[in-house]
Amino acid sequence: MNKRSEFSSRFGFVMAAAGSAIGLGNIWGFPTQTAENGGGAFVFVYLILTFCLAYPVLMAELVIGRHGRTHIMGSLRAVAGGPVSRKLATFVAAYALVCISLILCFYSIVAGWMVTYFLQPIMELAGQQAAAQWLVDFATPRNVIAALAFLALTVAVISRGVQDGIEAWSSKLMPFMIVLIVALILYVAMQDGAGDGLKAYLMPDFSQVLKPELIINALGQAFFSLSLGAGTMMIYGSYVSRKENIVTLGAYVTAMDVGIAVLAGLLIIPAMYVAQHNGIAIFTEAGNLISGDQLVFTVLPALFDSLGAASIPLSITFFLLMSIAALTSSISMLEVPVAFISEHEKLSFSRTQAAIAVALLVAVAIIIVLLNFEALFGAVISFTTEISQPLIGLMFCLYAGWSWDRSKKLAEIREGFEGVEQSIFWKIWPEYVRYVCPLLVLIVYVQSLR
Ligand code: TRP
Repeated sequence: MNKRSEFSSRFGFVMAAAGSAIGLGNIWGFPTQTAENGGGAFVFVYLILTFCLAYPVLMAELVIGRHGRTHIMGSLRAVAGGPVSRKLATFVAAYALVCISLILCFYSIVAGWMVTYFLQPIMELAGQQAAAQWLVDFATPRNVIAALAFLALTVAVISRGVQDGIEAWSSKLMPFMIVLIVALILYVAMQDGAGDGLKAYLMPDFSQVLKPELIINALGQAFFSLSLGAGTMMIYGSYVSRKENIVTLGAYVTAMDVGIAVLAGLLIIPAMYVAQHNGIAIFTEAGNLISGDQLVFTVLPALFDSLGAASIPLSITFFLLMSIAALTSSISMLEVPVAFISEHEKLSFSRTQAAIAVALLVAVAIIIVLLNFEALFGAVISFTTEISQPLIGLMFCLYAGWSWDRSKKLAEIREGFEGVEQSIFWKIWPEYVRYVCPLLVLIVYVQSLR
């Protein structure tokens, strides 16, 4: 049997997993949610939920994955206690595979837009006005072509494998992305009006902290942002060497994900107030900050336009940043079904064949969604992120907390972390994924269904 791939270094893993976690969810979702949910109050609740709920779930996925060292169905079955929980593991893994493929479907659509907005100013510079306009006009042919092109890029990276594909690309793109975001923050901070944005972002309106809406949104955001509840982190965990301290690695990834989300808020919210200062409307009629696609594809381009000579480099930089963030995330989505197919005992697909096969299915889903945009786009997003991810994440906790024998769990974490038994992590985490995480997820879940 071939030796299974691993990430070559700690840095490689952290870049890959942080690359997965850091995506449109951080740079767009997080600032948007913050704007919608009372500014700093949302940031506050989000931080608490990330460390208290999302990090333990992340650890559950990483540890189960590293223990199983195979596709997610195999890993989950390996920690199942008896025949019933093994059967259920098959079902949960299958659900996760469908869920992650659908996430890849809507994510490719959005990422495709980022790429078109990145190309538009370049076309303008090249004097191709008509093409530039085509790129930013919302129309089905453009949407389909952009999403499929982005998906093809994802396939190209994934078919190169764990080290030469995922790790190599993430290790190069992530540092570059951080440079881009910091440069943009500094530029925006120097514009008139940015200070007001900073205030709106950082001053918590504590009266909002206990609103169920806010808590539900913050939990959804925390799960989505750390790529939880869909098998991504389980499969990445399966490529981590037993020499590494997985507890620390998980903490690095969480910290980077949160750090970039907070940085993105420092970029987007002040940028909106600069836009307002330049005469662009940033509030809806109801008095809330404009969010969602309007924010990224209307307010920000209008802001860039209002900045004169800086406009073209700014929009190229911003949408390049978005495209990179999206790519290092989309590869982590595609990897889940690709690993399943190419490592499945009964199938004999190479990695590339598996990547193409999955991509064809996802491409069909993309076309169906785009042809029925109004009816399906939002529905796919809420089915995957609001309903499925928390449910699957809950199941992962139950496997990590209940099915998996405590001493075997300890033995797995001890690899690469000698002193684990004396650590605070081991004093808290096992009980935590057993009781606290499932209960919290359940409470929020039931709330959100009402
Ligand atoms: N976390 C990424 C973001 O913030 C998206 C992502 C990557 C994801 N892999 C995932 C979301 C798996 C859910 C499940 O944009």
